[in-house]
Amino acid sequence: MTMNELKIVPSKAEYAETFYRWRNQSASSRYNPLIPLTLEECRKNLMLQGSDLKDLWMTPSFRWFIERDGQLVANVSLKTINKQMLTAEIGYGVGEEFHGQGIGTQAVRLLIKKVFEETELRKLIAFVHEENRPSCKILENLGFTKEGLLREHFLINGVPVNEAVFGLLRREWGPSGV
Ligand SMILES: CC(C)(COP(=O)(O)OP(=O)(O)OC[C@H]1O[C@@H](n2cnc3c(N)ncnc32)[C@H](O)[C@@H]1OP(=O)(O)O)[C@@H](O)C(=O)NCCC(=O)NCCS
Repeated sequence: MTMNELKIVPSKAEYAETFYRWRNQSASSRYNPLIPLTLEECRKNLMLQGSDLKDLWMTPSFRWFIERDGQLVANVSLKTINKQMLTAEIGYGVGEEFHGQGIGTQAVRLLIKKVFEETELRKLIAFVHEENRPSCKILENLGFTKEGLLREHFLINGVPVNEAVFGLLRREWGPSGV
């Protein structure tokens, strides 16, 4: 799987059904603190989220979808944008039917490239359930550093879980590496 086979496209209200279905898949709910949303709420959320990074300081969160041959396979997001510190948090998910094909790695790579090329953000972070091995692996493979372990930081399905925090500095990202 090369990055060229995948395309990052703006979020659209009509992607709500796919997004809703992915959110309810077991890999998503097992490791992520997802607030239950109806299909209609998913649609509203997608409409409220930005896709054009020119609006970085006016929009609280951004989402894009990843297409392969015109089919939606994943989504990526940017949130907790800190204007003073020039940092933000990334999120990502691949449809369960497409897991294990390298899509997650390439989707996050596309997201990092977009954000570092189109904004002046200097650091990206991600919170990952410590047992979410594929997700930790993606970040390690893309040059992120595990900066710490936040003990019992998230409540997932009512259970306090440890979250690893990963960070990538702009200077650690480069066309040859990440
Ligand atoms: C995490 C997620 C995005 C991974 O997507 P994916 O497309 O399957 O990932 P990739 O195919 O790119 O694989 C990533 C790496 O994990 C490894 N991996 C996959 N399953 C694994 C497992 N059970 N144990 C250890 N490593 C595993 C792969 O081998 C690969 O590493 P490699 O390239 O060094 O071989 C996907 O599982 C997902 O969407 N989960 C639900 C949402 C989620 O948890 N998002 C992350 C929030 S922090």
